[in-house]
Amino acid sequence: MSDLYAVFGNPIAHSKSPAIHAAFAVSTGQDMIYEARLAPLDGFAAAVSGFVAAGGKGANVTVPFKEDAFRLANRLSERAARAGAVNTLVFSDGEIFGDNTDGAGLVRDITHNLGYSLAGKRILLLGAGGASRGVIAPLLAELPTVLAIANRTAAKAEVLAAAFADMAPLEGGDFSRYAGCSFDVVINATSASLSGESLPLPSDLFVAGSLAYDMMYGKGETPFLHLARQQGAGRCADGLGMLVEQAAEAFLVWRGIRPDTGPVLAALRAGLTG
Ligand code: ATR
Repeated sequence: MSDLYAVFGNPIAHSKSPAIHAAFAVSTGQDMIYEARLAPLDGFAAAVSGFVAAGGKGANVTVPFKEDAFRLANRLSERAARAGAVNTLVFSDGEIFGDNTDGAGLVRDITHNLGYSLAGKRILLLGAGGASRGVIAPLLAELPTVLAIANRTAAKAEVLAAAFADMAPLEGGDFSRYAGCSFDVVINATSASLSGESLPLPSDLFVAGSLAYDMMYGKGETPFLHLARQQGAGRCADGLGMLVEQAAEAFLVWRGIRPDTGPVLAALRAGLTG
């Protein structure tokens, strides 16, 4: 019988994860099934235990359950503990192991797919919610010279910066704090584009070689990337590559094989632009 995996979210119908993992399974010759499962907003733990009882070997977790998954796990990877959120679960012998591959996916997309080294760079991270928290430690591991956090609510950026102070001295504040500062990389980890709102970016953030990276993606240019391009960002990238890379990292956790992401990313990109 094929090994069973799933992604849990709410909503989940438009998730690209089943197609991504199906392609990975074919390219690596793994005998597995991967399904999308809708969990009720107040019923994540029950949905997962039903899945484990049915033989589920592992799962991905997406919005809004990553913090529920963090609490449900009885063992955590170091990166999940740091992130305070779990996007990958492994079920074995009654244990629920929680991992977080989002930050690794972001870093791999930037350094490997885009060929952009983060070492020695000045990075500005926009947002101080769960998405931002999840990528800070993996970004710091790339040894940037500066990692600063800008958030609509300054206090949340300050709290987040302080939470990682044992790893590196981070700055945190509201957007206006960075007026007159420029960065090599600006990463949008806010949820502003979900509501179609644009961010109050100071005008001098980008120089010609700057990379603007949006962890969101969609058909066409995201509002953040549109603004970044107008403000002079040399290079713009959306989060589709991060989506595929975090999936590949989860696949590696489950199956011990890192799938080739290039063809899958190209196919998804063709689907978005086609
Ligand atoms: P996620 O898990 O996606 O990070 P979250 O924890 O709710 O979601 O965090 C959302 C982030 O997007 C926060 O940093 C939020 O800013 P506040 O802390 O000030 O709420 C940010 N955000 C959402 N809508 C925004 C908007 N219209 N403009 C600026 N920032 C916004």
